[in-house]
Amino acid sequence: MLLTTAFVLHVLSGALWTGATLYVVYATLPRATDGTLGRAAFVDAAHRLLMLTRWTGVVLPVTGAYMVWRLYTPLDLLATTGRGWAVLAMLSLWGVMNGLVELGVLRMRREIDPDLGWGRYMAEGFPVDALAGVGGVPGSARLASVARPYLLASGGLAVLLLVDAALLAGGIPG
Ligand code: HEM
Repeated sequence: MLLTTAFVLHVLSGALWTGATLYVVYATLPRATDGTLGRAAFVDAAHRLLMLTRWTGVVLPVTGAYMVWRLYTPLDLLATTGRGWAVLAMLSLWGVMNGLVELGVLRMRREIDPDLGWGRYMAEGFPVDALAGVGGVPGSARLASVARPYLLASGGLAVLLLVDAALLAGGIPG
């Protein structure tokens, strides 16, 4: 029962996070880049992606660790089976993608707030209120160009994560 619950929470979180990342890359980044999408709307999308990254960043490793404990002990099963390698790849992709989203949104916020420290960023992210009192510069195009490499790389890793999950779901042999 607990394992089933872990699977449900894990898959829901994974779907929400990868889906949100790909949507931000597909639907907001191009329009922010050409200036059609306003700065506040783009910042809000980035901040919401960051919050999803952080919430799922708790649920995914906790449920994932529990699943590893139930399905891959003794732990050398992780290194000696094809499925184990797929799980290790999942863990690594998750770590790198998390870092990219965090850094991308941090770089965006530092365009507005150059002296922002990690502590305040970790507490606040990039809420739309942070734009209050800031003039029209930098605009959405500038913020998009700063975030672009991070978001594109995150989108690529989201696709790899989904392929990896599909391989596990499709039952690559032990
Ligand atoms: C901390 C990072 C993660 C760990 C430790 C982890 C671990 C695991 C484990 C142990 C399984 C069970 C594999 C099996 O059935 O043999 C699994 C399944 C799964 N994971 Fe992750 N995972 C992580 C992150 C992610 C992320 C970011 C996604 C986003 C797509 C994801 C999506 C899935 C899906 C869809 C399944 C179900 C595959 C199936 O049907 O068996 N996981 N994960």
